[in-house]
Amino acid sequence: MTIHDITALHETALSALGKAENAEAVEQLRIQYLGRNGAIPALMKGLGSVSAEDRAAVGKATNALRCAIENAIAEKKASFTETARGDARPPCVDFSLPGRWHGTGTAHPVSSVIEEAVRIFSRLGFTVADGPDIETNFNNFVALNTADHHPSRDASDTFWLTDDLLLRTQTSPVQIRAMLAGKKPPVRIVTPGRCYRRDTTDATHSANFHQIEGLYVDTVPVSLADLKSTLAYFAREMMGTDVKVRFRPHFFPFTEPSVEVDFSCHICHGTGCRVCKQSGWIEILGAGMVDPRVYEHIGYPPDTYGYAFGMGVERIAMIRHGITDIRLLYENDLRYLRQFA
Ligand code: PHE
Repeated sequence: MTIHDITALHETALSALGKAENAEAVEQLRIQYLGRNGAIPALMKGLGSVSAEDRAAVGKATNALRCAIENAIAEKKASFTETARGDARPPCVDFSLPGRWHGTGTAHPVSSVIEEAVRIFSRLGFTVADGPDIETNFNNFVALNTADHHPSRDASDTFWLTDDLLLRTQTSPVQIRAMLAGKKPPVRIVTPGRCYRRDTTDATHSANFHQIEGLYVDTVPVSLADLKSTLAYFAREMMGTDVKVRFRPHFFPFTEPSVEVDFSCHICHGTGCRVCKQSGWIEILGAGMVDPRVYEHIGYPPDTYGYAFGMGVERIAMIRHGITDIRLLYENDLRYLRQFA
């Protein structure tokens, strides 16, 4: 090894550094020259075999080379970080410019009905309870006293996920969840949520829709008259003070007696129109006194009293706004939906 070799090494190192285009390339060169197995340490190790008279000069030159390469590498690295910092500098901001307006958005008619219904029932002491869209056979059917052969359990009506799990067909299973949650009567809840049925979509049906369930159970007598007054209050608050409410006998597996509840048509005020199909009435709710069979499944004493009701949210939104096709609620055409802001 001679001074000549060292000078040659110096030159190749500097020219390689000059060509390095990024910090990684520089790091590679650092390893190549200064790393533990790099060229400079190799030179240092080789000093032993240099003749005694040359050793001082070669050692000095090797040291100088190491310093030179270290400096060159540090400089090159710094040049890259400086460029990077320069690029990241934010563009000049003019703080005096007026802000860009971002629309605030509006509530979807389905959300508005849910919010308003929750507000109305909360004034009567109801709190909101929630449940999952995927339910068990027990919560959706068994505990709600729905017989094994009931047609609503058919695969043609219900989206079954496994033998035991399904997409809930109603919000009624949240009643079961609330009562099973170890809550002792009184339980007074409303539960808005999505439901799923294998319905073919048309103007009034959608495979995915929303319901609001209500449940009040207590150890003191709760009667059908209480249910009536609660729903009459809801009708007046939701639809206006001139709305009339009528109860028709009906059947639900989990209520006895059961009723369907109609509101007078708020478009024609009962005289008959297209929306109410000339009847003057619009069916809004299913309701009734909780069947004692349900309490059996929950483990409540048989002398528990209570009522339950359930209503379709889309139906109310459609009646309120005179919407004649349920699909319009789901197409998400903002020009359409913004009308109901
Ligand atoms: N869950 C019933 C339905 O979907 C409605 C209902 C709720 C009826 C509560 C009675 C009591 O049709």
